[in-house]
Amino acid sequence: MGTLAFSFIALLLSVAAVTVRAQTDPRDVSAMQDIKNSLVLPHSLDWSSGDPCSPWTHVHCSGGRVDAIQLGGTNVSGTVSPSIRNLTALRRFEVMNCGLSGPLPSFSGLSNLQVWISDWL
Ligand SMILES: *[C@@H]1O[C@H](CO)[C@@H](O)[C@H](O)[C@H]1NC(C)=O
Ligand SMILES: *[C@@H]1O[C@H](CO)[C@@H](O)[C@H](O)[C@H]1NC(C)=O
Repeated sequence: MGTLAFSFIALLLSVAAVTVRAQTDPRDVSAMQDIKNSLVLPHSLDWSSGDPCSPWTHVHCSGGRVDAIQLGGTNVSGTVSPSIRNLTALRRFEVMNCGLSGPLPSFSGLSNLQVWISDWL
Protein backbone atom coordinates (compact mmCIF):
# COMPACT_ATOMS: atom_id res chain seq x y z
CA MET A 1 0.00 0.00 0.00
CA GLY A 2 2.74 2.39 1.00
CA THR A 3 4.71 1.48 -2.10
CA LEU A 4 1.66 1.98 -4.26
CA ALA A 5 1.01 5.41 -2.80
CA PHE A 6 4.65 6.32 -3.28
CA SER A 7 4.54 5.15 -6.90
CA PHE A 8 1.46 7.22 -7.50
CA ILE A 9 3.10 10.33 -6.05
CA ALA A 10 6.23 9.67 -8.12
CA LEU A 11 4.04 9.37 -11.21
CA LEU A 12 2.29 12.65 -10.41
CA LEU A 13 5.63 14.38 -9.92
CA SER A 14 6.99 13.11 -13.22
CA VAL A 15 3.85 14.23 -15.02
CA ALA A 16 4.24 17.65 -13.39
CA ALA A 17 7.90 17.82 -14.48
CA VAL A 18 6.98 17.00 -18.08
CA THR A 19 4.25 19.64 -17.99
CA VAL A 20 6.66 22.31 -16.75
CA ARG A 21 9.19 21.37 -19.39
CA ALA A 22 6.56 21.53 -22.13
CA GLN A 23 6.01 25.19 -21.33
CA THR A 24 9.28 26.37 -22.83
CA ASP A 25 8.47 28.79 -25.59
CA PRO A 26 8.81 26.87 -28.89
CA ARG A 27 10.42 29.89 -30.57
CA ASP A 28 13.15 29.84 -27.94
CA VAL A 29 13.62 26.08 -28.38
CA SER A 30 13.97 26.54 -32.12
CA ALA A 31 16.35 29.51 -31.83
CA MET A 32 18.52 27.69 -29.26
CA GLN A 33 18.71 24.62 -31.52
CA ASP A 34 20.07 26.86 -34.29
CA ILE A 35 22.57 28.41 -31.88
CA LYS A 36 23.62 24.98 -30.63
CA ASN A 37 24.19 23.83 -34.21
CA SER A 38 26.31 26.88 -35.07
CA LEU A 39 28.52 26.53 -31.98
CA VAL A 40 31.18 23.94 -31.29
CA LEU A 41 30.50 22.90 -27.70
CA PRO A 42 33.21 21.61 -25.36
CA HIS A 43 32.45 18.41 -23.46
CA SER A 44 31.89 20.44 -20.29
CA LEU A 45 28.69 21.88 -21.75
CA ASP A 46 25.74 19.51 -21.79
CA TRP A 47 23.18 20.78 -24.28
CA SER A 48 21.91 17.31 -25.11
CA SER A 49 18.29 17.60 -24.01
CA GLY A 50 15.75 18.76 -26.54
CA ASP A 51 14.81 21.70 -24.38
CA PRO A 52 17.24 24.47 -23.43
CA CYS A 53 15.37 24.99 -20.15
CA SER A 54 15.60 21.41 -18.91
CA PRO A 55 18.45 22.41 -18.45
CA TRP A 56 21.40 23.29 -20.67
CA THR A 57 24.68 24.13 -18.95
CA HIS A 58 25.24 27.92 -18.78
CA VAL A 59 21.75 28.64 -20.15
CA HIS A 60 19.26 30.14 -17.75
CA CYS A 61 15.51 30.30 -18.21
CA SER A 62 12.73 32.08 -16.46
CA GLY A 63 9.04 31.44 -17.05
CA GLY A 64 9.74 29.14 -19.98
CA ARG A 65 11.89 31.73 -21.77
CA VAL A 66 15.65 31.75 -22.22
CA ASP A 67 16.86 34.80 -20.31
CA ALA A 68 20.62 34.27 -20.05
CA ILE A 69 23.40 32.62 -22.03
CA GLN A 70 26.64 32.77 -20.05
CA LEU A 71 29.47 31.07 -21.89
CA GLY A 72 32.32 33.14 -20.46
CA GLY A 73 35.44 31.12 -19.76
CA THR A 74 34.14 28.00 -21.47
CA ASN A 75 35.94 26.66 -24.49
CA VAL A 76 32.98 27.12 -26.75
CA SER A 77 33.91 27.98 -30.34
CA GLY A 78 32.22 28.34 -33.69
CA THR A 79 29.76 31.09 -34.52
CA VAL A 80 26.51 32.36 -33.03
CA SER A 81 23.50 31.79 -35.24
CA PRO A 82 21.52 34.90 -36.27
CA SER A 83 18.52 33.10 -34.75
CA ILE A 84 19.63 34.66 -31.45
CA ARG A 85 17.41 37.58 -32.53
CA ASN A 86 14.41 35.38 -31.78
CA LEU A 87 15.29 35.05 -28.08
CA THR A 88 13.21 38.06 -27.24
CA ALA A 89 13.35 37.47 -23.47
CA LEU A 90 17.16 37.37 -23.42
CA ARG A 91 18.59 39.62 -20.71
CA ARG A 92 22.21 38.51 -20.40
CA PHE A 93 24.64 37.38 -23.04
CA GLU A 94 28.20 36.73 -21.85
CA VAL A 95 30.93 35.34 -24.05
CA MET A 96 34.19 36.61 -22.51
CA ASN A 97 37.25 34.42 -23.08
CA CYS A 98 35.61 32.06 -25.52
CA GLY A 99 36.86 30.90 -28.88
CA LEU A 100 33.98 32.37 -30.87
CA SER A 101 34.54 33.59 -34.39
CA GLY A 102 32.58 34.72 -37.36
CA PRO A 103 30.31 37.69 -37.77
CA LEU A 104 28.61 39.16 -34.76
CA PRO A 105 24.89 38.45 -35.20
CA SER A 106 22.36 41.23 -35.05
CA PHE A 107 20.85 41.77 -31.64
CA SER A 108 18.26 44.18 -32.93
CA GLY A 109 14.84 43.68 -31.45
CA LEU A 110 16.22 42.20 -28.22
CA SER A 111 14.74 44.93 -26.10
CA ASN A 112 15.24 43.04 -22.83
CA LEU A 113 18.99 42.71 -23.28
CA GLN A 114 20.61 44.40 -20.29
CA VAL A 115 24.02 42.78 -20.03
CA TRP A 116 26.19 42.00 -22.98
CA ILE A 117 29.74 41.01 -22.13
CA SER A 118 31.99 40.07 -24.99
CA ASP A 119 35.56 40.42 -26.16
CA TRP A 120 34.60 39.17 -29.58
CA LEU A 121 34.55 42.11 -32.00
C1 LIG B 1 12.67 33.50 -35.96
O1 LIG B 1 11.53 34.31 -36.10
C2 LIG B 1 11.09 34.48 -37.43
C3 LIG B 1 9.94 35.48 -37.41
O2 LIG B 1 9.00 35.15 -36.44
C4 LIG B 1 10.69 33.13 -37.98
O3 LIG B 1 10.28 33.25 -39.32
C5 LIG B 1 11.88 32.18 -37.91
O4 LIG B 1 11.50 30.89 -38.35
C6 LIG B 1 12.38 32.12 -36.50
N1 LIG B 1 13.60 31.31 -36.44
C7 LIG B 1 13.72 30.31 -35.60
C8 LIG B 1 15.00 29.57 -35.65
O5 LIG B 1 12.85 30.00 -34.83
C1 LIG C 1 40.06 25.15 -22.45
O1 LIG C 1 41.03 24.56 -23.29
C2 LIG C 1 42.34 24.70 -22.80
C3 LIG C 1 43.28 24.16 -23.85
O2 LIG C 1 42.82 22.95 -24.37
C4 LIG C 1 42.43 23.99 -21.45
O3 LIG C 1 43.75 24.14 -20.93
C5 LIG C 1 41.44 24.59 -20.49
O4 LIG C 1 41.45 23.87 -19.28
C6 LIG C 1 40.05 24.55 -21.08
N1 LIG C 1 39.14 25.28 -20.21
C7 LIG C 1 37.97 24.79 -19.83
C8 LIG C 1 37.14 25.66 -18.96
O5 LIG C 1 37.57 23.68 -20.17
